[in-house]
Amino acid sequence: MSKKPYYITTPIYYPSGNPHIGHCYTTVACDSIARYRRMQGYDVMFLTGTDEHGQKIEQKAAEKGVTPKQYVDEIVEHFKKLWSYMNISYDRYIRTTDDYHVKSVQAIFKALYDKGYIYKGEYKGKYCTPCESFWTESQLDEDGKCPECHRDVVEAKEEAYFFKMSPFAERIEKLLLETDYLQPKTRATELVNNFIKPGLEDLCVSRTSFKWGIPVPFDDKHIIYVWVDALSNYITALGYANDAYNDYDKFWPADVHMVAKDIMRFHAIIWPAILMALDLPLPKHLAVHGWITFNGQKMSKSIGNVVDPMVLGERYSPDAIRYHILREMALGADSSFSNEIMINRINSDLANDLGNLVSRTVAMVEKYFGGTLPADKKSDPMDDELISMATALRAKVDECMDNTTLNIALAEIFKVISRANKYIDETAPWVLAKDEAQQDRLAEVLYNLTESITIGASLLHSFLPETAEKIVAQLNTTLREFDDLDKFGLYESGTKVTDKPEILFGRLKAEDVMPEVEKIQAVQKAEFEAEQAKLAAVEGKAACGCGAGENAADGADLEPMDVEAKEEITFDDFEKLQFQVGEIVKCEAVAKSKKLLCSQVKIGNQTKQIVSGIRKYYSPEEMVGKKVMVLVNLKPAKLAGVLSEGMLLCAEDAEGNLALLTPEKPMPAGAPIE
Ligand code: ME8
Repeated sequence: MSKKPYYITTPIYYPSGNPHIGHCYTTVACDSIARYRRMQGYDVMFLTGTDEHGQKIEQKAAEKGVTPKQYVDEIVEHFKKLWSYMNISYDRYIRTTDDYHVKSVQAIFKALYDKGYIYKGEYKGKYCTPCESFWTESQLDEDGKCPECHRDVVEAKEEAYFFKMSPFAERIEKLLLETDYLQPKTRATELVNNFIKPGLEDLCVSRTSFKWGIPVPFDDKHIIYVWVDALSNYITALGYANDAYNDYDKFWPADVHMVAKDIMRFHAIIWPAILMALDLPLPKHLAVHGWITFNGQKMSKSIGNVVDPMVLGERYSPDAIRYHILREMALGADSSFSNEIMINRINSDLANDLGNLVSRTVAMVEKYFGGTLPADKKSDPMDDELISMATALRAKVDECMDNTTLNIALAEIFKVISRANKYIDETAPWVLAKDEAQQDRLAEVLYNLTESITIGASLLHSFLPETAEKIVAQLNTTLREFDDLDKFGLYESGTKVTDKPEILFGRLKAEDVMPEVEKIQAVQKAEFEAEQAKLAAVEGKAACGCGAGENAADGADLEPMDVEAKEEITFDDFEKLQFQVGEIVKCEAVAKSKKLLCSQVKIGNQTKQIVSGIRKYYSPEEMVGKKVMVLVNLKPAKLAGVLSEGMLLCAEDAEGNLALLTPEKPMPAGAPIE
C-alpha cells in the first residue's frame, strides 16, 4: 500500500543576515512534526529554503560591494550549515533564485494576468522600505508610520501592476472564521476585522524602483513583488509550472504552513487569494506561532539582539537548544530566550530527570545482572501506573502533534520520565538486590524501566533526535516502531546493555557558564554595532538605517530625561499600591478607540481586564505572552466604554517612545513586586 503524503513547510527565510534562534524555532518545530509524521508512516515532504530577492538584499549587497547573488550565496551556505548542525531533516531546500522557481513565478504571474486578476495601474502611496510594503493612508499607524514595523514611510508613486483582492474577500473570511485553517483560531477575528471588514484593497504586485527580483514576463521594467515570488515557493518547489520536480499532485495541498505572527497576514489572506485566483486547492492549515524574544524584544537581525545558535550549541548542544525552544514556546504566545532558563532546563529536565534515569537504569542492569536481564520475571500492581502511563503516551503525543502543541507533547514525555524516576524510588532496586528471593522481582523492575525508557526515547526522537538515539544505543536496542508504541514488553530479554554508559547531559553551573555566554554575546553585539556604524557611514544616516525607534531600543544613546518632581510620599502611601507580575494571555484593539488596547492579564489565579493607551506602540498579537508589571489595586474604570481593572506600567521618553516594564528575569504571573 502506498504511504499517505504529508507536506509541511517553514517560511523561506530572508538571507539578509545569518540565521538566529528565532529562525530555529519554526524550523525545529517543523522538523519535529516531519519526523513524527515519518514515524507514523507518512511519506513526508518537508520544505524549507531562502527568499533571496528584494530591495533589502540589493542594498546590502551594494554596501558590501558584491553582487546580490554573491551576497545571498554566502548566507545561504550558513543557513544550510546550521540546519545540518541542528539535525533538521528537510527533504527539499528551495532558493527563489533557482531557475525553475523563477520560470514558475513568471508563469503564475502571467496566468493571473491572463485571467484578468492582474491589471496595470499607477501606485501612489506610502512605502516602507524595510518591510517592502506599500500602505494606504488609512493603514498607517497614528504617527503616520508603517503599521507593521512603525518605521518611517516615504511618499512613492509608480506605474505598477495590481492584483484584485476583493473577489476573494468573502471566501477568505469564511476560510478564517468557519474552518480550522488558522491555528490558533483566536487570531481569525483580528485578521477579519483589521483587513477584510474595512474592504480588501487591491495589492500592488510589481515594483520598478529596484532590479533584484523576477521580471514581469511581459513587461521587464517591472519586478514581481517579493511576496508573490516568495509565497509561490510552496508550489513551485513541488514542480508547479515547471518540470524540475513532479510532486505537485502528490503533495498539494500542504498539510501545514508554519509561520510566526509577523507574516500571518500574508499567509492567511494574500496566499489564499492567489491560490483561489489560480483555481488551486488551499493549504489545510496555517500554524502561527509567537516570537522568541530576547531582552524583551522580538529577536531580530534589524534590532541586533540575535543569538547565534551555532555559538550557543558549542556551549550547550543542538538538542539542548531544541529542547529549550520547543519546551518554552506555547503555540500563539511569545517566549523569551534566556540563558538562565536554558541552564535550568538542562540541569533539571535533561541532566537530572532524563539523564539520571537512563544512567541509573543502565548502571543497575550492569551491576546486578552483568548487563543482561534474565527472561523470567514477576509483576506487581506497583508497576501498573508506570506501565499504563508509558503505553498511553503515544496517544497523548499524537493529539499534541495534531494540535501543534509541541511544548505539551514534551511535557507529557517528561511526565513518564519523572514517573519512572519515582518508580525507582518506590521499588528501591538496591534493597531488592540484597535479597536472594527478590532477584526475579528486581529483574522485572529493571525491565519495566528499560521498556519505559525505550518507549519514551522513541517518542522523544522527533524532538531530540541525537539524544534519543544515544539512549537506545545504551540499552542496545532500536527506536520502537510507531505501531508498537502502545505495547509494553517488547524489549528483548537477554539483550546486553552497554557497559560504558555515556553521560547524556552534564550539569551546568550558571556561575561558570554565564560569564562565558555573556562574553560571546557581547562580541556578537559589538560586531553588529560595528556593522551598523559602517552602514550608517555609507548611508549617511542614523545607525539603524531603518528610521526612528528601534535603534534607540536599549536606551544607550538616549539623553537622560528631566521629569518634574512629584510630592514626596510616605512608606505607608507606597504600601497602598499593589504591584504584581501579570502575563498577557489575550489582547485586542478597543473598537471605539484608535489608541487603546484591551488585555486579559493573568495574575496568579485571577485574570484581569486592563485597557491601556499603547496601541501605537504594540500590536495586540505582540502583547500576548508578555510578562508585565501591573498596578493591580487601581479602582476599576471604564475607558471608551470598556472596563479596565488595573494599569500596565510603562516608561516613556521625551520623544514619546514607550516601553512596557517587564521583569528582568523570568518570574511567574502573580509574583508580587515589592
Ligand atoms: O519573513 N521568533 O523571512 P524572515 C520566532 N522571507 N520566529 C522568528 C523570529 C523570532 N524572533 N524571527 C524570525 C520572511 N522568525 C519572508 C518569509 S515565506 C513565503 C516568506 C521566523 O527571514 C518566523 O517563522 O524575516 C518568521 O515567520 C520567519 O522567521 C520570517 O523570517
